[in-house]
Amino acid sequence: MVNPLKIGLLTRNRDAWPSTQLRRALVQQSVQPVCFNFSDITANLGSIPEVGIQEEIDALKKLNALIVRPIGRGSLDEIIFRLDFLHRLERGGLFIVNPPSSIERSVDKYYSLSLLSENGIKVPRTVVTENPDSALKAFDKLGRDVVIKPLFGSQGFGITRISDLEVARRIFNTLNYSRNVLYTQEFIHHGKRDIRCLIVGGRLVASMNRRARGWKTNVSQGAKPVSIVPSEEIREIAIKSTEILGCRVAGVDILESPDGYFVNEVNSQPGFRGLQVVSKVDVAEEIVRYILSELKR
Ligand SMILES: Nc1ncnc2c1ncn2[C@@H]1O[C@H](COP(=O)(O)OP(=O)(O)OP(=O)(O)O)[C@@H](O)[C@H]1O
Ligand SMILES: [Mg+2]
Repeated sequence: MVNPLKIGLLTRNRDAWPSTQLRRALVQQSVQPVCFNFSDITANLGSIPEVGIQEEIDALKKLNALIVRPIGRGSLDEIIFRLDFLHRLERGGLFIVNPPSSIERSVDKYYSLSLLSENGIKVPRTVVTENPDSALKAFDKLGRDVVIKPLFGSQGFGITRISDLEVARRIFNTLNYSRNVLYTQEFIHHGKRDIRCLIVGGRLVASMNRRARGWKTNVSQGAKPVSIVPSEEIREIAIKSTEILGCRVAGVDILESPDGYFVNEVNSQPGFRGLQVVSKVDVAEEIVRYILSELKR
């Protein structure tokens, strides 16, 4: 019997919904999933294997590709090591979804939006600084109705909307005291909904509106997925944004306001449970089929 392809699934929780779906889709395509976590990795210099999983699997010899689920929160050391490890695998020739450089670009809100903006994608007006006085000037410049965010997002938590000058002053000073970068963005009047597009291999495979009760449209904050047929303009914005950040698979979040479409973020490790509820395609299967078609090339 021919050895089946082996595709790694780097996930903190192999039983989380997206990982379960991906495992199911891999098996359906006769691929053997190899699930592991970052703590299962050992990198060796001067001995083999260069990259070991659970101390016995030689990742560069045994895996045909790797799917990366959220790299998670961690100390600076941990996050840097996780990305170094992915870079090492990529230099060793492994096909990774998503490539580490695209993860680096996407998870950092300033890095991603600056790249998008430089390449002609409309993003909300944003001011990023370490200086609380400059942040306060930005509060004024951005119309005294702003959203303050951590540089590295997390499902809507830690994000706040402010329209009071004294509250803004106190928040900026407090964040500065605890050595946070001050990330301030104009509030986009999006009508309590946004658009999520899932791009796989340069193709839009599913999309939805997320309708919320408040202004945060994260599903984890209670927003509900609603099926849509995206216009050509939305499709183009989503595909181009994914391309700019170098993602092979991406969830692109777009805010629609009377001033047009603004890309809020590109998620390089998107969940897809909400999308799956409202779309006919099998999202996990689309991702797996795309990887297999790339491996054949
Ligand atoms: N400038 C803005 N104007 C209006 N609403 C915004 C703005 N920025 C963010 N929001 C709302 O808040 C939600 C959360 O913001 P954002 O997506 O930037 O961070 P996050 O979801 O915490 O990050 P991540 O998706 O990386 O976990 C968005 O989905 C959107 O509904
Ligand atoms: Mg978000």
